[in-house]
Amino acid sequence: MEGRVVLPELEDTVRVPSVGPLADARERDIERILISEQEIADKLRELGEQITRDYQGREPLLIGVLKGAFMLMADLSRHIRLPVEVDFMAVASYGAATKTSGVVRILKDLDHDLEGRDVLLVEDIVDSGLTLNYLLKNLRGRRPASLEVCALLKKTGIQRVHLDVKYVGFEIPPDFVVGYGLDFAERFRNVPYVGLLRPEAYRDL
Ligand code: IMP
Ligand code: MG
Repeated sequence: MEGRVVLPELEDTVRVPSVGPLADARERDIERILISEQEIADKLRELGEQITRDYQGREPLLIGVLKGAFMLMADLSRHIRLPVEVDFMAVASYGAATKTSGVVRILKDLDHDLEGRDVLLVEDIVDSGLTLNYLLKNLRGRRPASLEVCALLKKTGIQRVHLDVKYVGFEIPPDFVVGYGLDFAERFRNVPYVGLLRPEAYRDL
């Protein structure tokens, strides 16, 4: 029909993540999806709205912890309807293994001065909490006006230190996860969902 807008078939627009034999090359070794792309997107919209309300009239400084938080920072910040500034810090924690060492080294420090700023630390995951604990102490020493944390994931019941994480996307079981920024030996960061690895993939490390 003349002038008719042709909508694509719904099936073509919804990507069905494939895990297992049909997986694309980046998904090999992922056993199953724990949190889907859609669930992440919905949650980030919700968190963004909450942050927008909480920081009304202020201009928060978002600090992402590299490398794991790069995707979260990009997606979350787009749901914050306030003027924000963005900065990044890189710390070394895991290396290639799946157990935390508790040793945190700053590999890249911030460009911003934190004094008097409303700082929101953006983290991929709180596992033992040791990395976050260290970072919070370090950042508090720089005298921000306020300091809060937004973490996409928090593993339940295994934090070795008490931590106040104001914005949490999902509480998850204490299993090793990858995707949406999270790596195993630097792989899987570009997987668009959070998934569980096949145990064989990391058992020998
Ligand atoms: P924590 O110090 O034990 O809380 O762990 C801190 C860092 O370890 C996180 O910021 C992640 O980069 C990494 N990490 C912890 N758990 C996982 C996981 O399940 N998958 C991938 N990386 C993780
Ligand atoms: Mg890592």
